[in-house]
Amino acid sequence: MTGIMLGSKITGWGAALPGTVITNEDFEKRLDTSDAWITERTGIKERRVGGTTASLSIEAAQKAIAAAGLTPADIGMLVLSTTTPDQTVPATSATVQAELGLTCGAFDVNAACAGFVYALVVGHSMILSGVEHVLVIGADTLSRITDMEDRSTAVLFADGAGAVVLSRTEENNFLSWDLGVDGTLVPILYCDHGGYLRMEGREVFKRAVLAMVSSAQAALERAGITTDDVALVVPHQANIRIIEAANNRLGIPMERTAIVLDKTGNTSSGSIPLALAAAADMGRIHPGDYVLFCGFGAGMTWASAVVRWGA
Ligand code: UT7
Repeated sequence: MTGIMLGSKITGWGAALPGTVITNEDFEKRLDTSDAWITERTGIKERRVGGTTASLSIEAAQKAIAAAGLTPADIGMLVLSTTTPDQTVPATSATVQAELGLTCGAFDVNAACAGFVYALVVGHSMILSGVEHVLVIGADTLSRITDMEDRSTAVLFADGAGAVVLSRTEENNFLSWDLGVDGTLVPILYCDHGGYLRMEGREVFKRAVLAMVSSAQAALERAGITTDDVALVVPHQANIRIIEAANNRLGIPMERTAIVLDKTGNTSSGSIPLALAAAADMGRIHPGDYVLFCGFGAGMTWASAVVRWGA
């Protein structure tokens, strides 16, 4: 490197899902619900539960560091997005830092399901501040704060993690971002200490579509590109109907969209990096492609970013 810091690009990625699979049929056996309802209303067929936020983070991060061709000693900062830290104190990133054998600083970010994109933007900013490689993890174990007797939430939320390595480049591949929150909407999706997630589903649905569309448009405009230029959109994986509605308004076909929610359910911070890792592993993203990340979540938060996929 010349010491000139012009930007960042994604150089590695990894995913981690716990071993226990819960299918819609499993829920049919113990709740007043059906595979047909869950599939039609959400697109989810199965989800994974188990592990801790730290254990899933570590697995995803090890894969991302290896994929980037780096070792833990190369990582200059860890940013971990989670809504379900393993302990109230300390931050889960401290455990992850030690277990990975990192020697750098580490901190958690919580912006609910928009958190991974928030963390990505923070990671990019750390690169602009002089760090060479930043490890960005999105991980959640929502099953721990979900009432498994409540059919309106139990079928949706699950556990998983994804990670990326952002590396300093002389050609900037991190083109734009848009972050926001409307804190007046806290009451439509929240979880109190020791409690379970509570959600006004229809209201969240409606707001989510509006937030995704306006945030994606803002990020695209700042990147100087249009939806036609987007090779792949990687949206928050909450509900296939939310993604379809947002895509419709943006004019992005579903063929250009990364989807894993049928197999993962809603893993909050884990959802966007899980979808990204699956798409990248399948060879769906090519050097030079424009990738649009778009998330929304409790708060109500929203976050979008446009990156050019590195070589
Ligand atoms: O990460 C961000 C967090 N969350 C979200 O993004 C979720 C946003 N919201 C949604 O995805 C949808 O609103 C849900 C999937 C949660 C619900 O779908 P909906 O089409 O909005 O259904 P609804 O809440 O309007 O409920 C329709 C009916 C209700 O029965 P009645 O009142 O019409 O008799 C519910 O009680 O469906 C019932 N219902 C269920 N029925 C079978 C709710 N959950 C279930 C269920 N199985 N699991």
